[in-house]
Amino acid sequence: MGIGYACLRALLFRLDPEKAHALALRAARAGGSGLARIVGGREVPGLDREVAGLRFGNPVGLAAGYDKNGIALPFWRALGFGFVEFGTVTPRPQPGNPPPRVWRFGKHKAIGNALGFPSDGASMVASRIRRDKLRGDVVGINLGKNKDTPLTRAAEDYVAALDATRSVADYFTVNVSSPNTPGLRDLQTKAYLEELLGHVVAAAAGTPVFVKLSPDLEERQLKDAIEACASAHAAGLVLVNTTLARPEGVCFEGGLSGRPLAPRAREVLAEARRLTKLPLISVGGIDSPEEARARLLGGASLVQVYTGLIYEGPGLIARILRNLPKGA
Ligand SMILES: Cc1cc2nc3c(=O)[nH]c(=O)nc-3n(C[C@H](O)[C@H](O)[C@H](O)COP(=O)(O)O)c2cc1C
Repeated sequence: MGIGYACLRALLFRLDPEKAHALALRAARAGGSGLARIVGGREVPGLDREVAGLRFGNPVGLAAGYDKNGIALPFWRALGFGFVEFGTVTPRPQPGNPPPRVWRFGKHKAIGNALGFPSDGASMVASRIRRDKLRGDVVGINLGKNKDTPLTRAAEDYVAALDATRSVADYFTVNVSSPNTPGLRDLQTKAYLEELLGHVVAAAAGTPVFVKLSPDLEERQLKDAIEACASAHAAGLVLVNTTLARPEGVCFEGGLSGRPLAPRAREVLAEARRLTKLPLISVGGIDSPEEARARLLGGASLVQVYTGLIYEGPGLIARILRNLPKGA
């Protein structure tokens, strides 16, 4: 971490985590690409690749949840990300759970959240991204359901959010693994998932559909979920979302991200790699070039970063890009 970010982080960490996040996003929007280019990754040749029929300039993406509402695409591009996943978007706007709902666990380099999909709604998010998107940007839209939609009607929500964002999406991610929307994780069971993906993949009409799974699935559940994804023609998997597991001394209700998630994220990646040939996006506890490299060598086609950005700063992306194996 550079001295500049160390100072900025000290200031940001004095604020409530959600306020600090909102401030950082506003700065990213306002200062935009100029700011990002200073710490951002230069284009590194030899890192481009094709995954699920899409051309990625490099394999490092922004994970869902950081920019839920599509605020700062020019900033993410200038930082060097090879792709950006916006959302989770819900079809209708909703406020999410009441605060406090984000916590830092600095000793563990972890974040806890119980946000529950606060969203400006799919149409609004799409119109922001449309304003900013350039040729060559790879944009993923992470889809969710509104809190008050029963599980039996979940597919209608996913399809409505997809319809509203299709003009800006290069791929979709079906989020069935957030722990903060009651019942959502039940959609990972084989019967629900096959039916849900049947609707979403059909509605996507050829745009690749990834499925984001939980790190808390047991071996059998993971196998069933992967089989459902394959039989429904999902394009790939995003592994993993936040966990309900806790290191000692960490206590809150919601999902944990960051460094403590890394061992389980590696394990799920290895298990999934053994079970399927589908492209895998690995996410969870990537906060160094070594960790990103290990995931790519461990069978991931792409990686995503969230909590690492908060603890290591935006310069992390350039560091990762400089240290990746070329032509992998
Ligand atoms: C505050 C916060 C909000 C998140 N929101 C979402 C979300 O809306 N949708 C989603 O699929 N994942 C969401 N995630 C999960 C991340 O995309 C990622 O899967 C997880 O944090 C593990 O990666 P990390 O250890 O690099 O943070 C969120 C994570 C955090 C910390």
